[in-house]
Amino acid sequence: MKQRIMSGMRPTGKLHLGHYLGVIDNWVKLQDEYDCYFSVADWHALTTKYDKTENLRNDILDVVMDWLACGIDPDKATIYVQSLVPETAELHIYLSMITPQNWVERDPTLKDMAKILKTKEGMGTQINYGLMGYPVLMTADILTFNADLVPVGIDQVAHVELTRDIVRRFNNVYNTDFFKEPQPKLNNCSLICGLDGNKMGKSFNNDIKISDSAEITAKKVMTAITDRSRMRKDDPGHPDECEVAFKYWKIFGRVNEGVNEVETVRCECEKGLRGCADCKRQLGAKINERMAKIRERRTYYEQHPELVEKIIREGSAKARVEAQKILAEVRKLVKMY
Ligand code: TRP
Ligand code: SF4
Repeated sequence: MKQRIMSGMRPTGKLHLGHYLGVIDNWVKLQDEYDCYFSVADWHALTTKYDKTENLRNDILDVVMDWLACGIDPDKATIYVQSLVPETAELHIYLSMITPQNWVERDPTLKDMAKILKTKEGMGTQINYGLMGYPVLMTADILTFNADLVPVGIDQVAHVELTRDIVRRFNNVYNTDFFKEPQPKLNNCSLICGLDGNKMGKSFNNDIKISDSAEITAKKVMTAITDRSRMRKDDPGHPDECEVAFKYWKIFGRVNEGVNEVETVRCECEKGLRGCADCKRQLGAKINERMAKIRERRTYYEQHPELVEKIIREGSAKARVEAQKILAEVRKLVKMY
């Protein structure tokens, strides 16, 4: 029996290289070895954007297209949309009964979100009830499939810890060992910074999208920060102080016929044999090389949205079958009618 993996992403629209290198590429490797459930968490999106749902449907499609383009294979992994598996909402209710309020109140991610919300207009200082339940809903996602492992970034580990607490409590209250305590599985991959050296993010305008064309990618790469102390192109450069471009080289550079591209760049840079503009032109080409297949696949899915819809429908139906089995057991344990 394969171990089971569950993970998810909120539908934030077109994803960027941070998502690809930090999360999706990891999922692609896991899908061969594990029984995987990958969810587009549209209810989680509602916790903060309940009043901005016009683009929700498109954002979901964009996320799934990016997953498929990056190599998530619906024949290996189950791709689904959270709200198409309503069993998760039912499970969320049971879990909400056994979760002490102060467990969710001490959630660090929630505190951050609350801070951001406070600075927005409208909500004032209020947090809605649904947002308070964010980590419990995530727990419901994971337990809907009684997963063994949850691959997430470091920022989500606290949520998986809470899941473990809730599992212990559920098992205790209902005198069972039905739910497994899932383990967080840290994505062990290169964190890519944004073009300006800060964390890559959609709202910071410093990202390269998975769906960006080769031309746009090349253009964006030309804006990447380099060694700020360098004035002329034949000045000796300092790759380790080259804030963005050299870091990207370390991610995208290859060993080609025994020649390590990254070391070549380092050497030429330090000797002043390589100008930054040329360096970034090459880098752009390098990134485009890596992304070519992915873009090709994405274009294909963009031209066949009905195929993406079908994958979502079928994946969600499949997820639901499994979810119904789990929920039947949970209803029994809770002694519902
Ligand atoms: N909260 C996660 C995030 O913001 C997304 C998510 C929703 C998730 N449900 C999940 C992650 C279940 C792992 C498991 O990134
Ligand atoms: Fe960075 Fe390349 Fe310029 Fe060196 S030549 S500082 S590695 S961009």
